[in-house]
Amino acid sequence: MAEFQPPVREDLRGLTPYGAPQLDVDVRLNVNENPFAPSPELARALGASVTDVARTLNRYPDRECLELRQALADYLSQESSAECGVESIWVANGSNEVMSHIMAAFGGPGRVALSFPPTYSMYPEYARESFTTMVSVPRTADFRIDMAASIAAISDHRPSVVLLASPNNPTGTAVSADDIAVLARATAGMGGMLVVDEAYAEFRRPGQPSSVAGLADHPNMIVTRTMSKAFAMAGARVGYAAAHPSVIDALRVVRLPYHLSAVTQSVACTALTFVEELQSNLQLLRDERDRMRRDLESRGFVVADSDANFCFFGRFRDRRRVWEGLVDRGVLIRETGPDQWLRVSVGTPQENARFIEALDEVVVDSDLMSDGDGGST
Ligand SMILES: Cc1ncc(COP(=O)(O)O)c(C=O)c1O
Repeated sequence: MAEFQPPVREDLRGLTPYGAPQLDVDVRLNVNENPFAPSPELARALGASVTDVARTLNRYPDRECLELRQALADYLSQESSAECGVESIWVANGSNEVMSHIMAAFGGPGRVALSFPPTYSMYPEYARESFTTMVSVPRTADFRIDMAASIAAISDHRPSVVLLASPNNPTGTAVSADDIAVLARATAGMGGMLVVDEAYAEFRRPGQPSSVAGLADHPNMIVTRTMSKAFAMAGARVGYAAAHPSVIDALRVVRLPYHLSAVTQSVACTALTFVEELQSNLQLLRDERDRMRRDLESRGFVVADSDANFCFFGRFRDRRRVWEGLVDRGVLIRETGPDQWLRVSVGTPQENARFIEALDEVVVDSDLMSDGDGGST
């Protein structure tokens, strides 16, 4: 084809799309999916709901997604022990889209978003797409929030949006309810919104409350969630947010008309009637995560604390070679975050065993590990 250079925006020229490699290997532990596929019964119910909705596809879907938002409100009220009404819930195509609505409504030219790297690598992209200036406060060596530096940065930069993933990706570390309350107050003091990204909330350990419980005290807080992880519905693309109704109204202004298809709404409503089945493997995944952590530590790796469905471990002199060695053995994990570390999602017990076995083979070569480890994070 003849060469053509379209008049792409200058700030986008030469950029490549975001995304982890999608390789066809046996053991895929690279994007924090839930390894358990829907049961035949659930698959049949999902199929039936698609057949039903197919008969109405000549019409646009419910623009307000009311049935789905009500079902999500009911789920969240029960999961987080906090009363949530339909007017406090927003829903979109994955929490990625929820976040782009948040940035469209609360970011923008001349405004600042603040985040805490290493963290979810999409945050700078949300900022770029909404022409928001991104500033960051690096985490401490053990991947906690540096509270003093954060308070100072909030007061210096007056961000209109603070993006805080808890549990954080890629580290797995969660932020305490007390620290979140302090950050919410500091952000409110500057007229900003605190977004707590709880994509992995359902994997949290006992004693770690969801920020949904704090919404009543902090009207400037938005908690985002997803059906991609605990609900094992990554392919359906459903994310949602809980916030004060006036915040939800602002998100309704920036969404595209009919942003969530009738098929997606129907599939998500059906999936929510199977919540017990969908989440029946959560405890097994939490136990597997803790076991994976012990397995890694017993081999001399440093492993960050995890309240999520993955482990972040290191430290490697050459993580690329480790990643490649694992791919050669049919195991795909993720090269992300600080360059001495790798992230592995928790799979089925069999997949996790395959990962550990492959890792043992790859890392016999101590040349791949960095010197002087043994420091704990
Ligand atoms: C911290 C965090 N937030 C949001 C998302 C996006 O999830 P979704 O599939 O709902 O778009 C991810 C996906 O991995 C994530 O790690």
